[in-house]
This record gives sequence, C-alpha cells and structure tokens, in this order.
Amino acid sequence: MRPFTDLQQVRQAVIKHKEYARRRRQLMRMAGEESLVILQAAPARLRNNDVYFPYRQDSDFLYLTGFREPDALLVLLPEEKDGRSILFCRERDPEREMWDGRMVGLEAAVSEYGMDEAYDISEADERLRDLLRDMDRIYYDLGRDPLFDQKLIGWLNTIRGQARKTFHAPEEIHALDHMLHDMRVYKSREELSVMRRSAKVAIEAHQHAMQVCEPGLNEADIHACLAHTFTRHQCEPSYLPIVGGGANACILHYIANNQLLNDGDLLLIDAGAEYDGYASDITRTFPVNGKFSSEQRALYDVVLAAQQAAINEARAGEQWQDVHDAAIHVATEGMIELGILEGTVEEQLETKGYKRFYIHNTGHWLGLDVHDVGEYTIDGHSRELEPGMVMTIEPGIYIGPEEESVKPCWRGVGIRIEDNIAITQDKPRILTDGLARTPDEVEALMAG
Ligand code: GLY
Ligand code: MN
Ligand code: MN
Repeated sequence: MRPFTDLQQVRQAVIKHKEYARRRRQLMRMAGEESLVILQAAPARLRNNDVYFPYRQDSDFLYLTGFREPDALLVLLPEEKDGRSILFCRERDPEREMWDGRMVGLEAAVSEYGMDEAYDISEADERLRDLLRDMDRIYYDLGRDPLFDQKLIGWLNTIRGQARKTFHAPEEIHALDHMLHDMRVYKSREELSVMRRSAKVAIEAHQHAMQVCEPGLNEADIHACLAHTFTRHQCEPSYLPIVGGGANACILHYIANNQLLNDGDLLLIDAGAEYDGYASDITRTFPVNGKFSSEQRALYDVVLAAQQAAINEARAGEQWQDVHDAAIHVATEGMIELGILEGTVEEQLETKGYKRFYIHNTGHWLGLDVHDVGEYTIDGHSRELEPGMVMTIEPGIYIGPEEESVKPCWRGVGIRIEDNIAITQDKPRILTDGLARTPDEVEALMAG
C-alpha cells in the first residue's frame, strides 16, 4: 500500500495543552472578575438499543480543554491573575477500563490537561453551588441541555434565598457563545497547521478516489475508498461524504451513495477529514471515465472561473459578501454565454434569476465545526475579512434532470468545486492546495 501524497512528511501537528490554557485565559479575561463560566461536555448518544454513536466532544468544550470524554463539566473562575480552571470528570475505574480502555481521570486532568483542579463529576452539584456564591455573573449557554439549565436555575434560586450580608447571588446569566465563538473565528498558527493536515488527508482521499474511479463501479466503491484513506490516517470524515454520480450531483445533501457510475457522467464528491477535531471540506467534480466532454468542460470552466474570482477577493479588508458576489457575477456571465441563462448579467443579478442554478452560498467558516461558528454580518453589515479566518469557497451550478428551460446536454449536471482558504495579511492561503482542480489537472491525475 503506497501513500498518494507526501502526507508522511507533514509535521504531525496537534493542538498543545499550552494553547488550550491560553484560550481559557483569554476567555476569562473577557468574562472579567466576579464571573463564572460553565460548559458541559457533549453527552454520549445511543444509536440503537445498547450501541452508541462514536463519541464526539462538543466543539466549544473541545476548544477550551482538548478533553474527549463525556460526563464532564468545565468551570472557569477569572478571579485571580491567570484565572482558575476546574474540570469535573469521571475518576478512573479499572473495571470499566477493561471494557472501554483508558480513562483520563482526575490526576491526568491536572498533569496532562493543565487544569488547576479536577474533581469527580459526582461532586459537581455541591461544589458548583459553593462556587456560585458571591459571583456577579454566570456565562453559560442556556437551552443546550434543559435538565442542566433547570439544575443551574434551581441552585441560583437556592443561593438567592440564602443570600445574607456575607455573600450575594449572581444576578445575571449571560450567553457564552458570543465571546467564545468570536474567538473561534480567528485561527492561531497551531490551528492552521492542524487544518493543513486535515486538508492533506482529504486531498489524499480525493486523489485516491479520482485514481480508482471508472465506469461500472458503484458510488459505494468510491465512498469506501474515501473512508479507507481517512481511517488509515486515523481521521474520521468531518461529515457524511457526498458521492453523487450524474444527476445525483444536483441533490445538495445526497448521501445514499449507492448508484452505478456511468460512462459519460460526472461524479461529484464532497468529502472532508476531521483531524484533531478540525474539519476540512473539499468538493471535486470529475468525469467518471477520466475525460471531460466539451459541454462538461465548458460548464466546469465557468464554475472554476467563479471560484478563482471568489478566491481573489478572499483578502483581509474585503467583505464576506464580496467573495460571494464575485463568484455570482462570473458564474452568471458564464451561464449566459453558454445559453443556460438569458438576458444580461445585470438583469440576472437584479432579478436573482441565477438562483435557479446557483442555489447555495459560496462558502462558510471552517474550523472545529464544518459549518463553523461565527457571525457573517456585524450590525447589519457584511463582516470584514481578517487574517486568521478560514473559510470554504465552493461555487456550484446544478441543473436538474427535468429542467426544460435548457438544452438537453445541460440537464442532470451538477458541478461544485470547493477549497479551504485561510485569510492572511497578504494573498489567500489555499489549505487544500495540491489537489487537481483544473480540467487538465484532473484528467492528468485520472490518466496516471
Ligand atoms: N460539506 C458541506 C458543505 O460543503 O458545506
Ligand atoms: Mn463540502
Ligand atoms: Mn462546505
């Protein structure tokens, strides 16, 4: 078995515990003294009967801890200079470890995860009640876990009932996500290294898929091929891959991935890896038989030009909306030239007629979540791009199989090209660079 890229040479970047500690300090500085921050780990979720889904930590919790077990609570106390981080988690249990493997436990929560204190999760209620006294504010996201919301409000009511001259009760519960999600929008150097590695794994998966693809295979064969690459590199898919041959490419969330791949059709693959918690998100569309027809190439070139125009706008100081507008403009122009749309570019943009075939936005933030957190508008204005932001740029044109307003040769064709872009001080950095993107590059890779 041979590697398909130079992935082995990529530094095995992971987020270090120092960085998690730095994030906690930054959040505590923003929260201010006399406040307390509470976050809950994601629960383990049953799939059916006694079988669980693979566990995935809540992204906010992961961002602040690197801790990947359920039944945990993080409490941050910005009281002192650097603040205090307390983790409530499960104590190690040798009997349980025989079934499920090593648990982190209280000792390693401090020594390996850099917490100031760690306690058994069963002590959380009592200790939290004490910690809440004398605080002015709580930062906590209500509505994610109604049972915990109730508990917290119950404690607050009890403390308020007991409040004497010696201590007071917190008056306010503030949403935590505004502060935390804004932090998550700006990726550090370490995060960018991890995201590059996540992208490299996805690049290899797409390359492998293009190389094995041929008429007569099933979409499921290609899906298995992607899964093979992710698993080899100890990654999971960052979302369910889309492997859509022919008209299936026009179904935006197609995940059945079980139809025959036909000679003469295109295949759209949207698949990304999750590495150390961070997602990549790549789409390529290529001919099942390795050679674009002239119509396929013409429409592909329109999407590619739209993507390039959008990437050119992805610079510090430009606005989020500029990226989308650039893609729309070029895609609309191209569709008019090919006779897919009528009238002028101005008319199509004015009436949003292009939306018939250009259905979705041109991108989204990318990070711990594939559709990452963070605002796109601020005070009603499109957000300005700044260094450290990471986004996808993914224009697509989809013409349904029953679309009678266009010539038959365009029907049942869906093309999307998606790459991951980091905004820098200078030109955009394409994290997914190195994967065949132009028709010639795609054909060359498939021929090899
Ligand atoms: N794979 C999800 C997306 O492209 O947004
Ligand atoms: Mn995608
Ligand atoms: Mn995407």
